[in-house]
Amino acid sequence: MSAEPIRNARGTRDFLPSDLVLVQHLERTAQAVAKSACYQEIRTPLFEETRLFQRSLGETSDVVAKEMFTVPKRVEPGASPNAGQDGYTFRPEGTASAARAYIQGGFAAHAPLQKWFYIGPMFRYERPQKGRERQFTQFGVEAFGVQSPELDAEVVSLALDFFLRLGFGEELQVRINSMGDPADRHRWSAKLKEFFQPQVDVPDSPRCADCVQRFQRNVFRLLDCKVPRCIELNQGAPDLFALMGEEALQHHHRFAQALSNLGHQPVEDRSIVRGLDYYTRTVFELHYPPLGSRSALCGGGRYDGLVAEMGGRPTPAVGFSIGFTPTELALAELKLPPAADLADLHAQLAPQIYLVAIAEEDRADVLRLTHRLRQHGWRCSCDYRQKSAKAQFKEAAKSKAILALVLGAEERAADQVVVKDLRLQEEQRVEISALPALLAQLLA
Ligand code: HAM
Repeated sequence: MSAEPIRNARGTRDFLPSDLVLVQHLERTAQAVAKSACYQEIRTPLFEETRLFQRSLGETSDVVAKEMFTVPKRVEPGASPNAGQDGYTFRPEGTASAARAYIQGGFAAHAPLQKWFYIGPMFRYERPQKGRERQFTQFGVEAFGVQSPELDAEVVSLALDFFLRLGFGEELQVRINSMGDPADRHRWSAKLKEFFQPQVDVPDSPRCADCVQRFQRNVFRLLDCKVPRCIELNQGAPDLFALMGEEALQHHHRFAQALSNLGHQPVEDRSIVRGLDYYTRTVFELHYPPLGSRSALCGGGRYDGLVAEMGGRPTPAVGFSIGFTPTELALAELKLPPAADLADLHAQLAPQIYLVAIAEEDRADVLRLTHRLRQHGWRCSCDYRQKSAKAQFKEAAKSKAILALVLGAEERAADQVVVKDLRLQEEQRVEISALPALLAQLLA
């Protein structure tokens, strides 16, 4: 009896060679954008102490409350009875790890201004659906050490630049808001609770089940509920901007002004409250509206309190993360990127040179030559399945190689090789010593 074949886990994907072409293009675009503004790459571990995320994202956030991939720590013999209580969690996002690495590296003392970026997998135990996976890639930037609203605008413009370089146009929206300073949010939270109480604390609440739950945990999240009835019920809710202190208000105005100075037209959106607890002042999202309720391609904002909250010196910071999954969906809808942008990556899947041995005795020399040409940096392939010369030529054509190099007894005796251009179907015989120069010319 054959066993059920094992498949990949729900909410994950295999990226096979041709799927990776687009991912590699997203990665190199991200790298180019980040480096253009002097952000440097960091790589932090894929898993961290669970309490890092509990402390930074907030116990009440959906991510911490429901979506963490956590494994218990192994209790070593002789360890204290509490040793196994904390676990390790596969990172659901990159900001907490970046802040931890910033504190651990002691940057606040010697080089407080740090501009970092990362590209890598994140893990959230969500219900998989269009644009949402359990393992997904984020490109993020995090800038530590400056509280300027102009830096917030720089960060937004980098996110925009990523999408513009991919070919996005007018459909892309920048939505901005402010979460004020902690004291503002405290007052606002009390006012929101007063406002929403009669909608939630009644039998058969008119709000959705998520809102009823979030009312206690994180009342701000009622404002970003996507259920039409809840959106209606949000009409008239207290506005943070009416309560906000002068400094946070000025910060927001300067941020919006700096964006328009850079030629961007942000949309003020008071429903952006973000799902993670660490935000202060600036928050923003980039949306591609045709993707509907899952249109967010990028989310970010300022988190001036996080580093101090985690035990570091008070250090302002701002950043964003872009999800590759929704980006891929939006690109597919827009029929982007243009084929020419991916042509070099597709080409790299094929050999440039396929080496053909006419007879069995020629194989050792073919292998030696293949090895030498690879050391020159050319992508070379040859046959290991004892195929006939005719079948090797077929393989060469199938592999989409540009050139075939042919070695037979005659060529070996004369220290020569036949170079066949498979595009033009032209061939020439050359001395082995002249081969590198000819290949450089033909493959330029
Ligand atoms: P976030 O809004 O939770 O923010 O995630 C950022 C982006 O990651 C989302 O806009 C979405 O594109 C993508 N994303 C999130 N969850 C999934 C999923 N399950 N499947 C596919 N894509 C997903 C953060 O993660 C913050 N760390 C952003 C940040 C950086 N704030 C300041 N610095």
